[in-house]
Amino acid sequence: MRDVAVIGVGMNKWGELWEKSLRDIFVEAALLAMDDASVDHIDSLYVGSMTPGLFIGQEHLGSLLADYLGQCPIPAARVESACASGGLAVRMGWMDVALGVSDIVLVGGVEKMLDVDGGAATYALATAADQEWECYNGATFPGLYAMIANAYQAKHNIPFDKFRKQLAQVAVKNHANGLLNPNAQFQSKVTPEQVMTSTMVADPLRLLDCSPITDGAAAAILCPLEMARAKFKKHSPVVIAASGAATDTLSLAHREDIAYLKATEVAAQHAYKMANMKPADIDFAEVHDCFTIAEICVIEALGFFEVGKGGDATLEGATALDGAKPINSSGGLKSKGHPVGATGVAQVVEVAHQLRGEAGKRQLQKARIGLTQNMGGSGGSTVVHIFKAV
Ligand code: COA
Repeated sequence: MRDVAVIGVGMNKWGELWEKSLRDIFVEAALLAMDDASVDHIDSLYVGSMTPGLFIGQEHLGSLLADYLGQCPIPAARVESACASGGLAVRMGWMDVALGVSDIVLVGGVEKMLDVDGGAATYALATAADQEWECYNGATFPGLYAMIANAYQAKHNIPFDKFRKQLAQVAVKNHANGLLNPNAQFQSKVTPEQVMTSTMVADPLRLLDCSPITDGAAAAILCPLEMARAKFKKHSPVVIAASGAATDTLSLAHREDIAYLKATEVAAQHAYKMANMKPADIDFAEVHDCFTIAEICVIEALGFFEVGKGGDATLEGATALDGAKPINSSGGLKSKGHPVGATGVAQVVEVAHQLRGEAGKRQLQKARIGLTQNMGGSGGSTVVHIFKAV
């Protein structure tokens, strides 16, 4: 297998982009990445998008987006794994280059979620849960993650007031980081009190415990490391040191322990093994904080903190920009936004910027090895990548 480098990244400002279409926002992000990499063509395209059919009535994205990018007749495919679609597109692109099938690959992600109303968006998202066991009975993602939160609190016997503060601190931290990210949907500071008194969505999760509904796109250009060193010298290359992926049951009802994200652990263990690294080697990570409880569960399953202690670590500042293990320097899904299919690729954009020392006001002091964790549904799929500055 060939070593694979990320030679360019791009994303536009996320939020309510009513004046632009899905194809517009994708092409903008893709051109930014191509310009960043200094490439004028690509050999193949993988685009993560969860459910463009339900959100805008458009399927067949691979060909459409290759066309609007002016790259037909390259091979192109849409990749779907719910909210992990973007991460899976990165993995497909990595495989394509590593196996020697293509040299220059664009991996992108896009979702246009705000062209439908909130009810229709909630329905579209819920199609990623188990229809027979969950949706049929009225479950939505805020409800499913609320069940995870309640199970987690009970399992670890955390007093509710303390648990509530732990959850709030995830939102406070990620909004503080997003304030420093010009591409974030919400560039606003929030206080623990604001989080803990925001509108109840699904007990114990309130409005400010939830990632928002977002329009957005992101893209990255991959090529063999040797080619990056010989031809694309604009940036020092960022290498994909490992890729891991795993699945779990869609329905929470069929899991042994709903307070633990097993697929995240398995995907991460594959990645650590491939990179010959351990959790302590990772300097920082972008993780899937679709709800505040998700970030706490993820940082435990990645092995960064002891199981049951992720909330304490967050309250103590260990995951802040100046903490021992900064998490979601970009603002995460909570503040940067969560256009579901684009999220996994935007994580790569942030990691590349950090590793290249180009993250502006949110630049981390120690940024040599970064990890991304992108998750579908309530953890039914997970993709983990490890990136290294070389
Ligand atoms: N964080 C911060 N602010 C938010 C927000 C969020 N998650 N969601 C909405 N807002 C803000 C809006 O900007 C708006 O502010 P304004 O009045 O100043 O314009 C206000 O809150 C109300 O927004 P609205 O769109 O009416 O909210 P809503 O009640 O329709 O939706 C949620 C709120 C939390 C239900 C919705 O964002 C949601 O479903 N999030 C989860 C998405 C999800 O499940 N993703 C998949 C994960 S697996």
